[in-house]
Amino acid sequence: MYYPDEVIEEVREKNDIVDVVSEYVKLTRKGSSYFGLCPFHNEKSPSFSVSPGKQMYYCFGCGAGGNVYTFLMEYENYTFQEALKTLADRVNYPLPELEYSKEAKQEADLKATLFEINKLAGKYYYYMLKSEHGQRAMEYLKNRQLTDETILKFGLGYSGKNGYDLYNYLKSKGYKDDILKQTGLFNVDSKGFYDRFRNRVMYPIMNTNNKVIGFGGRVMGEGEPKYLNSPETKLFDKSRNLYGLNIARSSRKPNMIICEGYMDVISLHQAGFNQAVASLGTALTVNQAAILKRYTDNILLTYDSDGAGVKAALRAIPILKEAGLSIKVINMRPHKDPDEFIKALGCEEFQKRIDGATNSFMYEVAIMEKDHDLKDPDSKTAFFKEVAGKLTEFTEELERNNYIEAIANKYMISYESLRNLVNARGMQLGIEASRRPVRQKNKDNIINKEDALVQAQRVLLTWLIEDTGLFKKLENVLSPKDFIEPLYNKVAVLLYEQYAGGKVSPAAIVNHFDSEEEHKEVAALFNTPLRSNLNDNDREKALNETLQRVKNNSFDYRKEHALSVNELQEVMKEQAQFQKMHIYLN
Ligand code: GTP
Ligand code: MN
Repeated sequence: MYYPDEVIEEVREKNDIVDVVSEYVKLTRKGSSYFGLCPFHNEKSPSFSVSPGKQMYYCFGCGAGGNVYTFLMEYENYTFQEALKTLADRVNYPLPELEYSKEAKQEADLKATLFEINKLAGKYYYYMLKSEHGQRAMEYLKNRQLTDETILKFGLGYSGKNGYDLYNYLKSKGYKDDILKQTGLFNVDSKGFYDRFRNRVMYPIMNTNNKVIGFGGRVMGEGEPKYLNSPETKLFDKSRNLYGLNIARSSRKPNMIICEGYMDVISLHQAGFNQAVASLGTALTVNQAAILKRYTDNILLTYDSDGAGVKAALRAIPILKEAGLSIKVINMRPHKDPDEFIKALGCEEFQKRIDGATNSFMYEVAIMEKDHDLKDPDSKTAFFKEVAGKLTEFTEELERNNYIEAIANKYMISYESLRNLVNARGMQLGIEASRRPVRQKNKDNIINKEDALVQAQRVLLTWLIEDTGLFKKLENVLSPKDFIEPLYNKVAVLLYEQYAGGKVSPAAIVNHFDSEEEHKEVAALFNTPLRSNLNDNDREKALNETLQRVKNNSFDYRKEHALSVNELQEVMKEQAQFQKMHIYLN
């Protein structure tokens, strides 16, 4: 962390979380908290809560959570520094000169410089395109029916023929070889540096903050390779970015369209489908699916209609499904890809194809059908058996029956016979499942027991912040070391420090964790549901039970890790004393 903790804390305190979140989400007061529709996942009824007391937010639906910094980092995709700067500006707080740790400063400087160079390179390519050197490239783009507005919007460019123009330009700006080497923009051999991209039409690739992280370059006309992409760099992670997402993320359309190529994205956007994105020359990844899920629930796939495109779609569907997305596949026949389709038939026709898109399950079945000859009885039987197997994957009965009905209608067999087949297949699979080793079950039990212990620690921490009087009552009973879970232990240490300092502030604790993942966990931890409708008697009982769990777990842990017999005896003595204790709430 580069700014002193006091500064971070002061800026946070001056920015009331309810005010800040209200600038993005409509909030309504309910009891001591505010609720609204979660901006991090799609939902119809509000499960996103903001607590003025805790100065934290937490979504009971998707688990997003943290303090006001986390919120901006998640919502705007800001780095911590950017969130701090924004919030400081918001309340006219003058940030002091930076206090860097050496490594942190180097890393931050390196990234900032790489961003700066990418931006300059993008501008340079754009300038080249507009200059006389770029005439042919411009013709190429115009031939592909791109407007000036589109070219500007996507920052398209041209990389020049010579193979050293960009290098010379950046050297003239004072950048050293050492840093230029890390941009991915150059090839280096014993004789020196060469521009990686020569005589290509350039497509800058941006992150969701509209910052250039890499490039794709296309040959004009024929040539190999057709596309050349930047290699992975400190800025460019192909598995965690999507082409066009910087625009698509704010399209406010009810879905996102995934296509294969840069050109497809650009054509779709130009035709008004500004919710289109593409992966970066690689197969769709689990990370990309998770990122998409932050913006939408519904995916439309428009992969090429050739064999490779079908294969790519069949690979992408389970990944997207796993991320909880609902998927439809757009049929573009007789055309190959969305770019060609729109050129040939226009955007209204494409909208019709969107409206008529096939549900991904029916699409997968249609592809299976191609491997079978439904006129041949054996092949037909094999096909239905395969389909029945796939239908068993729907665990919800209603959903499964709806699909059985859809398949039965489409392939004109009776609903009953298909359902019988699915049930038979299900039984078979069930028997196979029950033959699995029993150890599995034991493992689950252990996890459940662990869950309960972790849960008890969470309840106690939430309880402490909601009723700070508890610190005093548990003074001689509980201490931070009783929280065994490493993250909870760190939280407990900070919380006890705050209490000793006279002010408990859960949102300030979040500042001590670096990753958004940890922010989420801390937020979840402080939002553990406590049963508020208990009478005093039951509350006291619940507290003592929770305490028992946490303490006994802590004693077990200490016994396991005791280094001497003396230490072991000490723990056992403490445990015996503890068993005689009862905490009174009033
Ligand atoms: P156009 O032919 O210009 O319409 O391109 P396209 O966008 O339709 O591309 P295509 O369907 O051929 O390929 C889809 C995507 O795969 C491209 O946008 C690139 O990201 C990637 N790709 C295509 N060809 C190559 C290649 O030769 N090398 C690499 N690394 N990636 C490629
Ligand atoms: Mn194409």
